[in-house]
Formats: sequence, structure tokens, C-alpha cells
Amino acid sequence: MRVVILTGAGISAESGLPTFRDAHGLWEGHRPEEVATPEAFEADPLLVHRFYDARRAALATVEPNAAHHALARLEERLGDDYLLVTQNIDDLHQRAGSRRIVPMHGRLRSSYCLHCGERSHWTATLADGPPCPACGVAALRPDVVWFGEVPHGLDRIGKAIEHADLFVSIGTSGVVYPAAGLATAAHSAGARTLELNLVPSDGVTVFDQARHGPATELVPAWVDEVISQLPR
Ligand code: APR
Repeated sequence: MRVVILTGAGISAESGLPTFRDAHGLWEGHRPEEVATPEAFEADPLLVHRFYDARRAALATVEPNAAHHALARLEERLGDDYLLVTQNIDDLHQRAGSRRIVPMHGRLRSSYCLHCGERSHWTATLADGPPCPACGVAALRPDVVWFGEVPHGLDRIGKAIEHADLFVSIGTSGVVYPAAGLATAAHSAGARTLELNLVPSDGVTVFDQARHGPATELVPAWVDEVISQLPR
């Protein structure tokens, strides 16, 4: 059975990272266009750097939860029949052991050099204008995908969806494209579709099945079910 999973901020909420669009979501303090567009970065790089520096620092204070760990267990069983697509820029899936993963909106713990194009592992701040480890020029930006930029890995995601038997959307409101279109694409390609989310998501209505509740309960229970049905 070939499975494609899409995760969003909801899967990391119980680890202590705020989501974007819930009552106390991250965007409340900052409008997205203030901090998550190339135009915002051009207009006020310091504000944008500080926003992402704070989020990068917060990663050191949180741990993967039972939902991240459960997905890593599923990957261990399914191997190359499994792909995890995440909109999250935190590294909790990776720390839980996920390897077949496409972080389509980039990664907080990575910097991108606007001068030489190198990506570097990054855990420190960027607001203070550090030099690029590769070329020495102080031209680093957060290695994240802003509104209006092209998400990473779309070819790999498209191919996996074409061949998927099951598509599962976890902890995402389903309103930001192209991620929000993946469930529809999977449905059209003949996959079964399942939503695991705290509440019914806003945008997408193509789910064959939905379960609602906290990710740390729903995801481990669902993974146990799937694994128990796999041939030994
Ligand atoms: N368990 C499961 N789902 C949860 C939980 C939880 N504990 N807590 C919240 N949720 C659900 C919310 O009900 C909501 O539907 O997770 C979803 C989070 O939605 P958003 O805050 O919109 O986050 P996301 O879908 O990841 O946003 C997509 O928007 O701003 C951009 O680039 C950013 O990647 C992000 C994209």
C-alpha cells in the first residue's frame, strides 16, 4: 500500500508550537504579509529576521510528540511506499526519525545565501547579519518558502500522489495552496483520502473519511490500525 501524508502546524501544536490560524495562532501578532513575503523581507529585513530567529530559537525548547513518532514508525514499516510531505518548517518530524520527507515550505534550521545560493545548517540568529559559511558574504535569508514563492519538491510530491493508494491530511487547515490542492489531486488520481484534524478543515471537501481530535491521540491510533492490517 502506497501512502502519502500531508502534515501542517496542527501536528506540532501539542509539542508547544503555535499554529497559524487558530485563536491564538502565530499570525495574530503579525500579518502574514508583514513577515512572510519577499516584499516584506525587502522592506524590513530586520523584522523578518527577528520573527524567524525567535521561531528558530523556540525549536530548542520543544520535542517531537506521539504523532511525529507514530508517523516515523509507519515509515519504518512501509519504506519506499511512504512519503511524508510537510508544510511545517520546524524539524520535529526529522527529529522523530522521518527520512522520506519533503519539507515543502523549507526549514527553519537552514539558511540560504542570496549571494552564492548555498544552503547551510543553521541554528543561530540571522538578524545580526552573519557571513555565509560557503562564500563569506553577509547575504543569508531564512531557507523558508514565502507567499508568492514556489514550494520545494513539487515534482517528487506529484509523482508520489499519482501512485498513492491512500492520502492522509493531518493537522492542516487546508487553505494554503498548492498544499491544499494535494488532497484533491490524490482523490482525482484514485487514492482514498483521510483527514485527521482537530476540527473539520476549512477548504478541502474531498475526504472519504475524517476523524477529529488531537493529533497525539488520532495519529498513533490510526498508525497502529494500519500496521496491524499490513501483511507480516
Ligand atoms: N491536533 C490536530 N489538529 C490540530 C491540533 C491538534 N492538537 N491543533 C490544531 N489543529 C488543527 C487546526 O484545527 C487547523 O485546522 O491544525 C490546523 C492548523 O492550521 P493552520 O494554522 O492554518 O496551519 P497550516 O495548515 O499548517 O498552515 C499552512 O500556511 O501560513 C502558511 O506557510 C504557512 O505552512 C503554513 C501554511
